Amino acid sequence: MRIGVLTGGGDAPGLNPAVAGIVENATLHGIEVLGLKRGWEALAIKDNENHVTRLGPEIIREYSRMGGSKLQCSRTNPVSPQSDRTGLVKKNIEKLGLDAVIAIGGEDTLGAGAILAERGIPVVGIPKTIDRDLAGTEYTLGYDTALNVICDSAERISHTAESHQTIFFLEVMGRHAGWLALRGGEAAFADTVLIPEYPFTLEKLVSVIRKKLEETKDMGFEHTYKIVVVAEGAHIKGEDAVRRDSILDEFGHYSLGGIGNYLKGLLEHEFHHTRYMALAYLQRGAPPSQKDRQVGRRFGHNAVEMVRRGEFGCMVTLQRSRLVKVPIQEIRKSPHLVDVDRYYDTDRLNVKIEETELSECS
Ligand code: F6P
Repeated sequence: MRIGVLTGGGDAPGLNPAVAGIVENATLHGIEVLGLKRGWEALAIKDNENHVTRLGPEIIREYSRMGGSKLQCSRTNPVSPQSDRTGLVKKNIEKLGLDAVIAIGGEDTLGAGAILAERGIPVVGIPKTIDRDLAGTEYTLGYDTALNVICDSAERISHTAESHQTIFFLEVMGRHAGWLALRGGEAAFADTVLIPEYPFTLEKLVSVIRKKLEETKDMGFEHTYKIVVVAEGAHIKGEDAVRRDSILDEFGHYSLGGIGNYLKGLLEHEFHHTRYMALAYLQRGAPPSQKDRQVGRRFGHNAVEMVRRGEFGCMVTLQRSRLVKVPIQEIRKSPHLVDVDRYYDTDRLNVKIEETELSECS
């Protein structure tokens, strides 16, 4: 038996440990593994010799601890309506003698995988994205590492913010979902958290920050600072999310980013000292956390088991702490967003800390 493995979309810590888990289990069963470079691109172009690499057990130790993707990523859409390459994907699978493809990706890579599976291609999926916003799974590879980076960075920033009594806008990723901002901000004791699910008004933001400043003063602190954690997809009511550029990718997405800077510009005359920083790719660049290594390895092992059982068109997911198989089609449902009523305090523009249920699996 021979399996092809690919990683698509944005990289996330946990991709390499998942590949290591696949190779580990495949080796146990005498299954060969071919690494397919640059996501679906490896199967969607004609001359793909340079896109294919043999993965033996010697890669396990190195892959188990590395961030990013050793197999490289791309946002290639093999089933884009403008240039559907399903036929070429089938031919390449035949040429390489693959019995199955394990695709590790987010809504786009696995969304394409779901369509290819419907068309008879033996695909098994593994969910990843630091945003943790995929339908059908409670965990996606990369989220835990990114959260730790946010928490650590907020603490570092608080030192400079405290020294200058700054209102600091710390921008984090999260295109549709505010999980990174909400849970990262919660752990960092952020003063305000802005999420895509709740468009805010500038007046409200100013009044929340002013109130926080007054409260601190009332408590006897002379010098004070505030940390505002803002998701890249968060936006002012009636406005669109701020775009980094005007280039659409093959899946029809614009790159977001810049809301923190935009808010700083709008509010710099309201407050004594304002600063902005986007964590951007630092969130994805860290070595995978214990959780991303462990879950990645298990996702990898389970994906191989699914291939061995012929459970194609399915992905391995985590639900209520159990590994569960679900149809990849699930990914095409609406993303898993923050339930504002339950987890977000719209009055304080912050996490609802009194919520007793910490798990968001429901
Ligand atoms: O989907 C994960 C993510 O990290 C999003 O939060 C972000 O919008 C996107 O990737 C940015 O990816 P890139 O700049 O690599 O296209």
